[in-house]
Amino acid sequence: MCGIIGCVAEEPVAGILMDGLRRVEYRGYDSAGMATISDRILTVRKGAGRVSEIEDRHRLSKLKGSIGLAHTRWATHGGVTDQNAHPQASCRELVAVVHNGIIENYVALKKALAADGHRFRSETDTEVISHLIESEYKKLKDPLRATLAATKKLKGQYAIAVMFQDRPDLLVGARKDAPLIVGVGDGKMFLASDVLAFIEHTDMTIFLDNFEVVEISKDRIKIVGRDGKEVRRKPTQVAWELSDISKSDYAHYTLKEINEQPRTVVGASVQEDGKVADFARAIRKAKSLYVTGSGTSYHAGLLMKFRLNKEAGIRCDVVVAGELKEHAAFLKRGSVVVVLSQSGETADVIDAVYETKKRGAKVLSIVNAAGSTLARESDGVLLLNCGPEVGVAATKSFTSQVVVSNLVVDAVLGKSRTNGIKELSEAVKDALGTEKKVLELVELYKDRPDFYFVARGYESPIAMEGALKLKELSYIHAEGMPASELKHGTLALIEKGTPVVVINPSGDHHADTLSSAEELKARGADVIGVSDVEDEVYAHFIRVPKVQPKFAPVVEVIPLQLLAYHTAVARKNDPDYPRNLAKSVTVK
Ligand code: F6R
Repeated sequence: MCGIIGCVAEEPVAGILMDGLRRVEYRGYDSAGMATISDRILTVRKGAGRVSEIEDRHRLSKLKGSIGLAHTRWATHGGVTDQNAHPQASCRELVAVVHNGIIENYVALKKALAADGHRFRSETDTEVISHLIESEYKKLKDPLRATLAATKKLKGQYAIAVMFQDRPDLLVGARKDAPLIVGVGDGKMFLASDVLAFIEHTDMTIFLDNFEVVEISKDRIKIVGRDGKEVRRKPTQVAWELSDISKSDYAHYTLKEINEQPRTVVGASVQEDGKVADFARAIRKAKSLYVTGSGTSYHAGLLMKFRLNKEAGIRCDVVVAGELKEHAAFLKRGSVVVVLSQSGETADVIDAVYETKKRGAKVLSIVNAAGSTLARESDGVLLLNCGPEVGVAATKSFTSQVVVSNLVVDAVLGKSRTNGIKELSEAVKDALGTEKKVLELVELYKDRPDFYFVARGYESPIAMEGALKLKELSYIHAEGMPASELKHGTLALIEKGTPVVVINPSGDHHADTLSSAEELKARGADVIGVSDVEDEVYAHFIRVPKVQPKFAPVVEVIPLQLLAYHTAVARKNDPDYPRNLAKSVTVK
């Protein structure tokens, strides 16, 4: 899992690449590097550490040249060492490559290349690609053809950008199952794994398809398919504005994104009626119906399933994307799979999509990234419209998913249009006002080893989401579950002072959930109530506004996001860069 940026321009590129690197650092942050060509000399500088550390050590932004590649690494093959950082150059530094993905057959390729006299300097699978391209380039003398020939020998997933020491006028890129986007600027062209890397310079983009290879110079683009035939594709404009990716006055992207939610829930509700109606029609007609996604998106899927089952009387299974294959017996022509994802690039999700399509079923996606693999592979798409989510933890994308999937369920139910969005936006603003109370709780509980979150019915996924956020950002062990499950084992772990968050809005489940809260209190737990109604059982209470029940999870999740964020800060973790995780999980 890595971030790539390449640029060829009329001007020096090192500064441009450095800005881009900082923007894609969320994709991998254990090593970084850059290569440029100047006066026919290819210079590679790289090392293990965060982008800022490598910049301090190697002055990447001072490299000369109007062509270059840069990379942030999240190690998969080979440890976190200077040598394993990218770019990876071929033997005679004729070719330099940056790569995101995994080459499954790299051991066999490495053996064959070594037998041909290639000498390897790293433990990475990526280095195999640079040697392979070098050997094809020597035969074919053409950068694009050589890259195409080399990629035909690769098994696995890749997005690569390649630079040739004797061709300081062009970069070559190729992709399979990992994102690579061309940025079409004025006198400068880009290759990157995320639009964010170059959006400061251009919002005109071309999204490459699997197996395509592209050659860019400062004013020209050539794309070929696997068969070597030229593919013509017009650039499209991306809607995200540069202001969307600055941190404004917030300490972290995560906090900024949490605070954007009064606006993003409104953005999510702006959908073409026709498209929503198409989703609803397909769901009603489906011979079998699944909802899938990973992590937080899966939790949004659980909410969607709940309403489809309970209110629309439609049978629907929700399965985590990484397990969908195991449930594929009922996936056939006439089935529909609704896929939820922020990035649209999560490997488990994309695998689930390919499995669905292989079986002739329809893919309908609710996704944030418009040009993502998921969006492009889907039969129908509804966009979240919440702008780039840079923080590693999913926050605003979750509440947008809840809004969009509610629009769909309302359409299934024959309700013409979801109303109450303005009120929801106001309620989200009020829910953000819980921050002061949350900060008090953080002071009390930031050093506790365990946290529990419970709820009933439609709120149960919010208990799971609250626990996931806290684990991911604060590194505290947390579990979320239906309150009814407590008595089947977990209650044994509750002791004096254990914090347990009970999400308990007024309504059908209120009394039962209060009983669970009493049981927890009797065992010594510090029960933290999150609700629109206060009750005596709670040691602490976070009041959230009363909204339509279908939107209650949107307001309930806000204090839980704030709790996770502020606990991370209090424990001196960087909430934008949690350990052992990356923003887009592009490996299985
Ligand atoms: C949690 C989180 C992850 C993602 C999951 C799916 O805060 O960010 O659990 O929700 O990796 O990602 P997308 O939605 O991009 O497919």
